[in-house]
Amino acid sequence: MADGLTLGRFHHIGVVVSDIDAAMKGNSRYFGIRQWSVRYFEAERLPGLSDNGFISAVGVGDSLTLELLQPLTPDSPHAPFRSWRGEGMSHAVSRCSPAQVERLQQQLQQRGIGYSHQLNLDGKVRSLQIDSRPHLSGLGLEVQVDEGGGFDDLAVDRVVNYEFSPILPVDKLYHVGIVVNDRQQAMESFRELLDFPEFLPMDLEVGTSLSSVVYKGESVDHSAQVAFSRVNGFCFEIMQPGLGHGAYQDFQQEYGQGMQHFFPTICDQSVFDAAIPQLQQVGVEVMLKGVIDGVMNYYYLTTEKLLGGVTIEVICPHEQAWMEVMGMTPEQGYLIGL
Ligand SMILES: [Fe+2]
Repeated sequence: MADGLTLGRFHHIGVVVSDIDAAMKGNSRYFGIRQWSVRYFEAERLPGLSDNGFISAVGVGDSLTLELLQPLTPDSPHAPFRSWRGEGMSHAVSRCSPAQVERLQQQLQQRGIGYSHQLNLDGKVRSLQIDSRPHLSGLGLEVQVDEGGGFDDLAVDRVVNYEFSPILPVDKLYHVGIVVNDRQQAMESFRELLDFPEFLPMDLEVGTSLSSVVYKGESVDHSAQVAFSRVNGFCFEIMQPGLGHGAYQDFQQEYGQGMQHFFPTICDQSVFDAAIPQLQQVGVEVMLKGVIDGVMNYYYLTTEKLLGGVTIEVICPHEQAWMEVMGMTPEQGYLIGL
């Protein structure tokens, strides 16, 4: 195995937003997250960057943790992401020990990889924002060091509570889908830097591996080369858009590479169909429906406004044994996040 970066264990996804109150409410409405811990990292809470702070809101649901981040100035951490991408999933956050971070810093130096920001939250917890986007197809990495009580022990400025039930069942974060320009190259760099042991590649194409794709109300030809892998709690789908039309192609045209979707739900078709009116009420529409006959319908939902730039994937299996019908082993299921 390659000697990948010592990042520790994956903890959550960071989502950059413009209006943190709207995003907390939207994410609670959709996922049923009941409580947010809001911290204003500015002034004396952000030594060295006191004039360029940001707001962090961490929401811990029953099966999902999210961090929303609102930069407060154009030079704040996370502001560069917002200027090229707008709101959206920005980076994966891991946590590691002080000994691990020492090793990590050496590895980064050896590879010539720098930092977007090195923060010292409240002067006691380091947060390294690694300049990994050029090396990992747009994926940002943040490492929070477990020292001085760790991030969770940092003083909370505001607690926000909501009492919503989730609109669809939230199982867990199965995987995050990343649009990449070159699957082969992405597999190599993800393997080298993140230590992914192996990939499960799949070639998707309407007429062969896909029965049909309807995108924004129109039947489309669509193809993509994807691959899944998982390590240290990280599970990613990397997706190289192919010929035809679809969500990946449009994402690539608009933003280039980066985190495109977030997959938290596998549910019965009847559950999904029954939720449609409620989804529409909060402005969520089906952007894309893909069908693999005998296996599943999969959906991408336009939740960008509600959740702050995030697209959600939902899978509705055609039958309980859908993995077997697809010819997938339990080991392969593990690699896609199951
Ligand atoms: Fe996916």
